Amino acid sequence: MFVKVQSAAVLGLDCIEVTAEVDIAGRWPGYQIVGLADAAIQEAKERIRTAWKNSGLEFPSNARVVINLAPADVRKIGSAYDLPMAMGMYLATEGATIDIHDALFAGELALDGALRPISGVLPLAIFAKERGYTRLFIPTANAKEASIIAGICIYPVQSLRQLIFHLQGTESIQPITPLDLSSLLALNESALDMADIKGQQFAKRALEIAASGAHNVLLSGPPGSGKTLLSRTLPTILPQMTVDEAIEVTKMYSVAGLLPPDNPIITQRPFRAPHHSASTAALVGGGTFPKPGEISLSHRGILFLDEFPEFPRPVLEALRQPLEDGVVTISRAQGSIMFPAKFTLIASQNPCPCGYATDADKVCVCSPMHRARYQKKISGPLLDRIDLHVDVPRIDFEKLSDNSSAEPSAKIRARVEAARQIQQNRFANSTRITNSEMTNRDIKTYCQLNDESLDLLRQAVATLHLSARSYNRILKIGRTIADLEASPHILTKHVAEAIQYRPSSRQG
Ligand SMILES: Nc1ncnc2c1ncn2[C@@H]1O[C@H](COP(=O)(O)OP(=O)(O)OP(=O)(O)O)[C@@H](O)[C@H]1O
Ligand SMILES: [Mg+2]
Repeated sequence: MFVKVQSAAVLGLDCIEVTAEVDIAGRWPGYQIVGLADAAIQEAKERIRTAWKNSGLEFPSNARVVINLAPADVRKIGSAYDLPMAMGMYLATEGATIDIHDALFAGELALDGALRPISGVLPLAIFAKERGYTRLFIPTANAKEASIIAGICIYPVQSLRQLIFHLQGTESIQPITPLDLSSLLALNESALDMADIKGQQFAKRALEIAASGAHNVLLSGPPGSGKTLLSRTLPTILPQMTVDEAIEVTKMYSVAGLLPPDNPIITQRPFRAPHHSASTAALVGGGTFPKPGEISLSHRGILFLDEFPEFPRPVLEALRQPLEDGVVTISRAQGSIMFPAKFTLIASQNPCPCGYATDADKVCVCSPMHRARYQKKISGPLLDRIDLHVDVPRIDFEKLSDNSSAEPSAKIRARVEAARQIQQNRFANSTRITNSEMTNRDIKTYCQLNDESLDLLRQAVATLHLSARSYNRILKIGRTIADLEASPHILTKHVAEAIQYRPSSRQG
């Protein structure tokens, strides 16, 4: 008897269809799994055999069982094919009359026949719905994660036995009630608030611009001036994620296997702060079976690299391509995988090894050579990709001891949200969300300048030796500053402010 059961392989954030073809025939005992299966799938033979027995089924010991996972040229990884393979065996031996052409199966079997959670269930549910399947059978532990997808019957399965009873019609499993994702979305929780940070108006303004248009920031200043504090407070002024953003981000965490089991939906913008000892693979993604790295886990949120120059140079250089493209491509012998990486980079650094090179009062004790070596740790091309270069000076005693509160995060966030709304309308018919994602064509359309602003920009390009990239980035920042004022046109004052955030280029 020959049967087919549908499942899917998760590649990056997308899926491709995988069919478990099961053939049980002949009189000679045998048991084989073919179709570019990895070690976990080869071990599935024993899991399925034992789970099968413990579910009260009789293993076809006097027949040759051949399972093929098609298409044979796609490497199958992990244990999610246990369930489709076991289902195929059941249908080929006992349940030939059961119709499953509209159903997709995924799950790992425990030896007692129970189903264990797998990673990547959310992309799987989206794929099943898009492909027109009407039923999806997944482990109960993955149910909540999949429940944000409506329009497909998703069945949480506890065990192989329960599933068989359900398909036989003797005991039915209730499909999951879809969750309304928009009601779950939340602002980033934090004990911090901009109101508690004294002074630093210039840095706060830069962070407001960064939050509005998702622009990258480099904070530079002496020790203890508040760079880390400012960066960690940034999430409090970020707008709430939209439903589409939350699905994208949750998909990423689902594939990485990082969804918290008790609440497996990402409802707040990610804020990732990897230590400077992180490897290139940890930061940009990788591994034999590629997993998203920190830059993808901070997709639609913040990647905070504190003590920027302490990161090894090759690790930082690996950020260059994703910072430009918003995606990272990981190539392996079996093919390449793409993960989105539209993150906002917030980096902090001291201006020199002692930290006081830019301090008005304290004398820097670094030799010019030490200072130059320290500054060379971050390459010109990487600095060129950072839109807002911000000096964070040490604040004086008067400001520090001032007990009056500054503007609270909620008030700043309201302005950020208004600016985001303008951007949402601007990019309504495209996949872009923020000004930082504008293409050259968008810049031409949305960043037109008057003659006065053009003159100003021409002078800045000449005196600051700005690159073509810097020029475009100034225009994008100008657009965001104009959006913060709800100004349809970019005015000269907006361009002037945008130019303030560019350093004079060290390397062209
Ligand atoms: N503007 C400020 N308002 C209130 N508190 C501040 C301010 N700046 C710094 N502090 C206090 O100083 C502490 C140290 O600041 P922070 O760690 O942000 O400094 P830093 O600039 O990151 O220094 P380093 O270069 O050594 O990493 C903060 O935890 C906070 O308590
Ligand atoms: Mg710090």
